[in-house]
Amino acid sequence: MKKVLPILTAAAMVFSVAGCGSSSTAASTASTEAAAASTEAAAAPADGSVANNEKPLVWYNRQPSNSSTGELDMEALNFNDKTYYVGFDANQGADLQGQMVAEYIEAHKDTIDRNGDGVIGYVLAIGDIGHNDSVARTRGVRKALGTAVEVDGAVDSNPVGTNVDGTSTDVMDGSVAGFTVRELASQEMKNSAGATWDAATAGNAIGEWSSSFGDQIDLVVSNNDGMGMAMFNAWSQAEGVPTFGYDANSDAVAAIADGYGGTISQHADVQAYLTLKVLRNLLDGDDVMNGIATADDAGNVLSDTDYKYVESERSFYALNLAVTADNYQDFTDATKVYTPVSAQLDAGAHPTKKVWLDIYNSADNFLGSTYQPLLQNYDDLLNLEVEYIGGDGQTESNITNRLANPGEYDAFAINMVKTDNAASYTALLNQ
Ligand code: BGC
Repeated sequence: MKKVLPILTAAAMVFSVAGCGSSSTAASTASTEAAAASTEAAAAPADGSVANNEKPLVWYNRQPSNSSTGELDMEALNFNDKTYYVGFDANQGADLQGQMVAEYIEAHKDTIDRNGDGVIGYVLAIGDIGHNDSVARTRGVRKALGTAVEVDGAVDSNPVGTNVDGTSTDVMDGSVAGFTVRELASQEMKNSAGATWDAATAGNAIGEWSSSFGDQIDLVVSNNDGMGMAMFNAWSQAEGVPTFGYDANSDAVAAIADGYGGTISQHADVQAYLTLKVLRNLLDGDDVMNGIATADDAGNVLSDTDYKYVESERSFYALNLAVTADNYQDFTDATKVYTPVSAQLDAGAHPTKKVWLDIYNSADNFLGSTYQPLLQNYDDLLNLEVEYIGGDGQTESNITNRLANPGEYDAFAINMVKTDNAASYTALLNQ
């Protein structure tokens, strides 16, 4: 009985706050509150007895790491024993993207070389030179097309600027299906205010590239669909130039019917689930693998083709799938919950908890159009009341300023602007 009391009080508080402006709620009696508390488990404020630095924390989408070397920030990943990262397998996905482009060239040998000069020219939109996922994708494409150059045992992922004459030292001419393959141009799509993965910048870049290189461009490749679709809409669709992205956002998948070459699903439906389910498990004091490796009490469970877990990195990685003209019909709704993990948790056994979650850039196409809608579907299923904070994509303080009262939340899910900046968040949780 003792345990129930604070919940009832909390329920009453939440009801009175939520009831502002609603007379029927204001009129609710203690007994209906009690009934609601037991069936719906209204949100309890965070338990003041848990220190903020002992609460569950999931880093997601931007893995704490050194933006120059890519080395993981293990201090941030081990912030406490309830800290994890959720992302996807960047190398597996990058290799798939490269293969998808190479296979496309092979399958379209007769039509791909627009000016018939024997050179397949491609341009590459780079998302963020300091983001491991972006680096992996640049490398994956260069490896598969034979344009990769190794420096100190790793493929050079620097943007070339322009390389129309093939003299860049960051890439070399490759060969696929009997053609020479050349990276004509690549650049980081960062806008003047500093936002990376910037679709509008990519839309402008293709304008410049196409006026300089014209029909030397046979393929357009992008580190993500946001930038890929900006280039497709601005130029390549009208020109019939196949364009490849990453993320399998719904608009990009639909565009495959209109000539978009293909994309990679990073299984955002699995990642969004993992982001919230890991927090849910830790809040419930359950094993972190509950509903992930083993079925939870609602029957949710993933399989080992959906994700992998690397204990030494405290990281869950969703596995990627290629989406092309052959299978895109299966991927048309990027915001649909993944059926194996779509069962509602019982609100009595898993009462509502409050989560603070930020999205580093509210204008990011993938996070905004795919990831957040998925999180919003899963938060209901997992009985989590999530406060979504959208950043400007440029300054960490724009987000950290809105983590002024961590004591109000039971758990945190963090998407940093810059992968080096984990300490800006953990400092606030340590206070
Ligand atoms: C996505 C990009 C996105 C970036 C944001 C990546 O995983 O593929 O589309 O812009 O995350 O951090």
